[in-house]
Order: sequence, then structure tokens, then C-alpha cells
Amino acid sequence: MNTDSIANKIRTLAAEKGAVILAHNYQLGEIQDIADFVGDSLELSQRAAEVRAKIIVFCGVHFMAETAAIISPESKVLLPDAHAGCPMADMITAAGLRRMKDELPGRPVVCYVNSTAGVKAESDICCTSANAVKVVESLPEDEIIFVPDQYLGFYVQQQTNKRIHFWPGYCPTHARILPEYILELKAEHPGARAMVHPECRPEVAAVADAVLSTGGMIRYARDPGVKEFIVGTEMGIIHRLRKENPGKKFYPVSEQAVCPNMKLITLDKVLYTLETEAPRVEVEEEVAVKARRAIERMLEVKV
Ligand code: 13P
Ligand code: SF4
Repeated sequence: MNTDSIANKIRTLAAEKGAVILAHNYQLGEIQDIADFVGDSLELSQRAAEVRAKIIVFCGVHFMAETAAIISPESKVLLPDAHAGCPMADMITAAGLRRMKDELPGRPVVCYVNSTAGVKAESDICCTSANAVKVVESLPEDEIIFVPDQYLGFYVQQQTNKRIHFWPGYCPTHARILPEYILELKAEHPGARAMVHPECRPEVAAVADAVLSTGGMIRYARDPGVKEFIVGTEMGIIHRLRKENPGKKFYPVSEQAVCPNMKLITLDKVLYTLETEAPRVEVEEEVAVKARRAIERMLEVKV
């Protein structure tokens, strides 16, 4: 079967089954093109909280599908490849976080959504890259624990007077981006604006014009006065940037900025998932109740 006929079959079957297909901005272009909604982690959590679909097919990685299952318990949440994980989320465990809380009592825990349900359940509030500063600022305490992404934590630290205790996690895909890549592209394209993700190293953020979530990059690229952009994040976003801005140029900082887990989701797997309604992502109720509190508290923070 060719790509178009698989895409048509997916759309037909999704309509028959009342399924909604959500896709992250890093997904393959053909996956973004068949999705009902494409967005960043915050937009996808908001969408999952409001859709009343029987089935949500989550084209992203495991923690995203888990978040959808927690906040939309009446939906059956399917992840087309059960192995699509996130190495950063696996850099911290609930037991490790409990030890950190014991060592630093009285500090609330802000947990990046790139984490397991068990870690969220041990946290006071979640955040994404789009709302991390606002979430931290929403807390009355002057000192906080921030897990698991140290680079997002460093970025937030620069925007707030609060004292932040970090966990040493990081995203291997974003850690591959080096400041010289940005500087070389800036020299080649002096009119281009450089936008990078806060999961990048601080020395990369320091040479960028803007530090933004993937949703923030999509909006930033709409600036009618700017025609060229240097893009410091996972390559998948280039598809949407070029599709929505046909007259503009987008230069990825590195062909190595690819998240292999995001790329595990293919059209064939989406079709198979819709046909079989598997693999399903479920969260044990005891954990889900606590994790839901942290996610809902985040969704209440105005961005
Ligand atoms: P955004 O929330 O900016 O889309 O970042 C997501 C991410 O890192 C997914 O891995
Ligand atoms: Fe995890 Fe990084 Fe992939 Fe995002 S890009 S899913 S943080 S490994």
C-alpha cells in the first residue's frame, strides 16, 4: 500500500471508531499530516483534557500518552509503538525523587512533563517548556526542586529569583546541539533569527535570539518581518514550519538532532493500532490520582 492509501484508511477508520489522532511537533511529516491536532506538550495535554473521544491515538512518546491517559480517563489511549520512550524521563525514578525530597524537606517539586506517571505522582505541580517559568513563579515558596531536566531548570533559574535545586537529567537529542552550529549558521545567514528549545545546553541558549517551546517556535516563525530562521530543536518540527510558512527559509542546526523514539511512530503502525486498539497505555489508579493533581494544577496556571 502506498502512503496516500494508508493515510486514507487511517482517516476512515478513525472516523468510524470515533478516534482522535494527536501528534507532537517532532513526528514524521506524514504522521503530522493525518493527525487531527499537532502541537507541543502543553497544547497536547490541553487537547487531551478537553476531547471527549472514545479513543485517542497518541503519536508521540510514552510519557505524553501516559499524561493523556491520566487526564482523560474515559478515553482509551493508544501509543502506536510501545517502545517509544524518552531517555530523559528514564533518568529519574519515583524512589530517587523521594530521596531528594527527604534531603530537601519543605521545597515543592516542579516536574517537567517529560517524566513517568510515578514521578509526577511524587510532584506538586508539572510544567512543560511552554509554561515552566510561569509555573515556578506561581508557587509561594522561594526554593523549589526541579526535575528531571537540568537545562530547562537552568533556563528557568535565569528568569526567576527563586532558588532551584536541580536533578541532573537531560535530553540526549538536544544535548547534541552545540553553540558553534548556531554561530556558523548565523555567519552564513546574517538575516536569520535563531530559535532554540530550552532543553538545549545553556551555552546554546546564550547564542540564540529566542528560547522557545516547539509551539512557541511555530508562533515565532509567523512574524511577517522575518524570512529566515535557524532552528535548534528536533528535526521533525521543520516539516510544520515549512508547511505553514511557504515563503520562508528554515535551517536545522544539526541533522543529528533527531529523536529516535519520536521516529518509531509510522503510518503502518498507526493503522495497525487503530485496527487492533493496541498497544494501550494505562496508569494504575493509585498513581493516576496523585499524578492528575500535579497535571491539573499546571493546567490551571495561566500562560
Ligand atoms: P515541547 O513541549 O516544546 O513540544 O517539547 C517537547 C519535548 O521535548 C518532547 O520531547
Ligand atoms: Fe525525550 Fe528528547 Fe526525545 Fe523529547 S526529544 S522525547 S526529551 S529524548
